[in-house]
Formats: sequence, C-alpha cells, structure tokens
Amino acid sequence: MEYTAIKLVKRPELAITPDLFEVVRLQTPELQDGQILIKQTHMSLDPAMKGWMMPDRDSYIPPVELGDVMRSSGVGEIVESKNDRFPVGARVQGMTGWAEYIVSNGQGMNLLPEGIPTEAVLCVLALPGMTAYQGLMNIGKPKAGETLVVSGAAGSVGSMVGQIAKAEGLTVIGTAGSDDKCQWLTEELGFDAAINYKSDDLAKQLAAAAPNGVDLYFENTGGAVQHAVFNLMNAHGRIMVCGMISDYNTSNPSVGPNWMNIIKKRLTIQGFTMPDHYDKIPSMMQAMSGYLMEGKIKYRAHTLHGLESAIEGINLLFTGGNTGKLMVEL
Ligand SMILES: NC(=O)c1ccc[n+]([C@@H]2O[C@H](COP(=O)([O-])OP(=O)(O)OC[C@H]3O[C@@H](n4cnc5c(N)ncnc54)[C@H](OP(=O)(O)O)[C@@H]3O)[C@@H](O)[C@H]2O)c1
Repeated sequence: MEYTAIKLVKRPELAITPDLFEVVRLQTPELQDGQILIKQTHMSLDPAMKGWMMPDRDSYIPPVELGDVMRSSGVGEIVESKNDRFPVGARVQGMTGWAEYIVSNGQGMNLLPEGIPTEAVLCVLALPGMTAYQGLMNIGKPKAGETLVVSGAAGSVGSMVGQIAKAEGLTVIGTAGSDDKCQWLTEELGFDAAINYKSDDLAKQLAAAAPNGVDLYFENTGGAVQHAVFNLMNAHGRIMVCGMISDYNTSNPSVGPNWMNIIKKRLTIQGFTMPDHYDKIPSMMQAMSGYLMEGKIKYRAHTLHGLESAIEGINLLFTGGNTGKLMVEL
C-alpha cells in the first residue's frame, strides 16, 4: 500500500522552514513475523523536535539523520499484525514518526485501553502528563501549602503541572504569553494567579502574587520569567528545569541569573529529560489517570489536520499560537 511520509532533508539555521522537509510516497513492506502495521491517527508535535533536527550529538538523544523520516510520537490503530501481543484493531501509542503508516516490531509501543479519547492520551497520559508528574512530584517533591510558579503555564506540560500542584494543595501561579491564556488558567483550571509575561511590570506582578515567596519553580521557558522568579525563591527552594523554549530559536541564548542566590537560599536546581525516566511511566500513568477520573485535570488539544500540516504547524509552538497540546489528526 502507498502512503505519505515526511523526511528531514536539511538542518534548521534558526527557525523551522518548509525547505527542511521532503514529502515522499512510500510503499508498506510485507510484514515479517513479529511485526505490526500501524495506521497513525494522531501525531504529537513537540518543542523537542527542534532539538532533534539540529546536528548536536552531545544531547540526551541523537539527532534525526538527514534523509530519515522525521521523529515523533503518536497514536495509531493496528491494521495488520504478525505479533500475538498486538491484535488488529487495537490502539497503540509510541514513537511513530511523520508518516501515515508505521511498521513496528512492537518494541516501545504501548497498547491503549478502550474508552479513553486519543486527545486525553496525548494531553495527559503521554509526554506532557508524564513530564509534569516526573518534574513536579518526583523531583520537586512539593508539600501542601507551598507556592509554585510554572512558566509556559498554558502549554501542554505547564497546564498539567499547575493542575497537579493544585490537586496537591499548593498555591499555583502561572505565566503565559497572552491575557486569554491567563484567563483560561485562573477561570478554567483554578490557578490562584496567572501573569502575562509580556507585561512591563512582570517582576512586580509576580512579587504581588507570591507574598510569601516561591518554594518551587517549574521552568519551561527561560527568559524574563526565570530572572524574576529566581529573585523570589525561598530558602531550600527547588527549581525543576524542564525546558527553555525562549532560547530554542535564537543564536544568542539568554544569560542566566547569578549563582549567589543558590548559596544564600540553599536552592536545588535540577534538569531532567523524560527518556531517563521511562521505567516510572506505569506508576505515573496510574497517578495521572487517577487525577483525570477524579475530575482534577482538564486538558485541551490544538488539532491540525493532515500530515503535511505539521510542516508549518510546528512553528505555532514557538510563536505561542497553540492553545493546548499541539497535535495532527491524520
Ligand atoms: N524535559 C523534558 O523531558 C521535556 C518534555 C516535554 C517538554 N519539555 C519542554 O517543556 C516546555 C513546554 O513544552 P510543551 O510541549 O508543553 O509545549 P507548549 O507549552 O504546549 O507550547 C509551547 C509554548 O511555549 C511558549 N513560548 C514559545 N516561545 C516562547 C518564548 N520566547 N518565551 C516564553 N514562552 C514561549 C508559548 O506559550 P505562550 O503563549 O505562553 O508564550 C507556546 O505555546 C518546552 O520548553 C519543552 O522543550 C521538556
């Protein structure tokens, strides 16, 4: 059967541009014993993809090789199977790639239970939810009554972080790039405060929203928010460094805060990436399913349509144009 796939054929200078990709038609091969054929229905678009396109071999995961199908995770339905563990008709989630069909030996593919909408899988039970839980609960170790600031708060990871923290009894302050996003955080998700980081008086607004200082900072963006929050950290505060999206499309990464506060406030600052924590996914998925079933977590998907919409659509992540977990419905 013929299908469409998108290959990475050039590395980005700075921004992701259409000439980095080639749309190709491929043929599904005859399945070998143990293999399955997956028809992808939903493909996740993530900021990390920018890093995977770059030539850097000194990161947590090797780059996508030029000429290879672009890497992504996604959800699909098994349409042919020569593997007893994966019956035809079942839904799976895992690393798929920018392609309509994927041949897999099942390794790294997770069978999905029936009844959970695919959007809920990609928003809550896949990367965003796992990242939020790992960073906040396993690294930050929050205690009820503490104050958390999360940047990129209206995004996929940030919105999960804030809601888990509310469920755990914290005071939650989010920063986001528009007044509409801030309103969604306070009115729909129950954040205690939300601040538009593009405001002139960001530091003043943050200080007013956190009169007792900040115990936990979940860093998704870097930039102006990082400096303002760093100055408000309480003694023994924890900073979980998840992402620095404000630096992904610039040749001049921003200068971080001076380290003196780390000593004075005895801060713990820890970076993390999800591939180091795959062993905890079953327990974290159980915890996130619990919040979801108790109605403590809401999610929203920002859905593009058709495989090729990924080529331009991925940039919504860098302009702030996405209002929810960015994904492509195929
Ligand atoms: N460590 C890990 O394992 C891991 C896993 C997943 C994600 N991440 C990181 O987590 C962060 C959020 O990822 P996500 O998937 O949840 O994406 P997302 O938040 O759903 O989308 C990205 C958002 O980043 C914000 N943004 C873009 N440019 C910005 C800038 N210059 N300054 C401040 N904010 C900016 C935009 O929101 P506004 O409208 O608010 O500006 C945009 O909507 C990223 O840094 C990503 O790399 C890390």
